[in-house]
Amino acid sequence: MKKTVKDIDVKGKHVIVRCDFNVPLEDGMITDDIRILSALPTIKYLIDAGAKIILLSHLGRPKGEAKKEFSLQPVADRLSELLEGNITFAQSPEVIDDNVKASVAGMKEGEVILLENIRFRKEETDNDPEFSKQLAELGEIFVNDAFGTAHRAHSSTAGIADYLPAVSGFLIEKEIKFLGNTVADPARPFVAIMGGSKVADKIPVVKSLLTKVDILIIGGGMAYTFLKAKGYEIGASILDDKSIELAASLMKEADSLGVKMLLPVDVVCASEFSNEAAVGVYDADKIPKELMALDIGPATSALYADEIAKAETVVWNGPVGVFEMENYKQGTLAVAKALAEAKAVTVIGGGDSAAAVAQFGLAEKMTHISTGGGASLEYLEGKQLPGIACLMDI
Ligand code: 3PG
Repeated sequence: MKKTVKDIDVKGKHVIVRCDFNVPLEDGMITDDIRILSALPTIKYLIDAGAKIILLSHLGRPKGEAKKEFSLQPVADRLSELLEGNITFAQSPEVIDDNVKASVAGMKEGEVILLENIRFRKEETDNDPEFSKQLAELGEIFVNDAFGTAHRAHSSTAGIADYLPAVSGFLIEKEIKFLGNTVADPARPFVAIMGGSKVADKIPVVKSLLTKVDILIIGGGMAYTFLKAKGYEIGASILDDKSIELAASLMKEADSLGVKMLLPVDVVCASEFSNEAAVGVYDADKIPKELMALDIGPATSALYADEIAKAETVVWNGPVGVFEMENYKQGTLAVAKALAEAKAVTVIGGGDSAAAVAQFGLAEKMTHISTGGGASLEYLEGKQLPGIACLMDI
């Protein structure tokens, strides 16, 4: 168990809070502010507790250069709305300079300052000890609440904890509770749904979940590598040919562990990766040579929904079709609806499945939607995340 902000006296102290404000932007406008909203409980708690709050975050990958399109200005504007103006954006291309230090030194209790994109400094991603120390000198306590970046060992996520007492914020506490504890001690039947296209990326998670789940449902682009491993013709569907053997061995492993592994029984196919192409539904073992499967079919949706309805715990990572295109969204929608209606504890592991649930307006119906994409995958794999490992134990 990690200490949280509640386990440390913050009154009158400079508290450095690492958030993950890496939000999607379109023409400089934030298109999804869930990561900002998720940081508010910790920030508000610290304001009420009389701390002097210094917020750090990255945005995108500016690779050590102060590039305007990666400025945290849009985040500062949104935070200003949410905190009713109680925030100063200490904008410096250097992130920390004499002006920033002076602003921090002059802070009053309950005040909030946001620094510029921490990745404007190359030392951040290098986890440079000197830079970590400089960051630490701005405060007296370090709070990590950046779950989405907890799998990175960077100066502001891990290195800084070498110099300050380090605790978690409420978001990391919540993510640990749902991704960690729910999976470690699930109510059964426990169903995991794995989708997305890159089999290789998901293999370690599938392997780890196999030892915990009762039913493993495979969908999305990765399903076709499994179908190929079963000896099916998959036409022009996406194939990770380096992972065919691995897929076969995972199916064997599932068998020997007594885990029921479900693959698509029918699929929606098209002649090209386009919403304009003519579509048809085919049995999964009869995909025509010239077509590609882009979604699970109605029989598969019904099969998956049936298992989800019987489950007590469901973890979902990765869409089961190309849900961004109208013609191939039905499978992912059916899975999302089944989760929304399920009696189970439902945990959505960040990234594309979180985006799908939001797009369908079903986010409120889920027990927990992780704010981490890569981080949630690594956490589900059972890996130690540097941004969590560096925090003090109770
Ligand atoms: C994410 O969006 O997954 C996190 O903010 C981490 O970003 P990164 O992959 O650029 O480190």
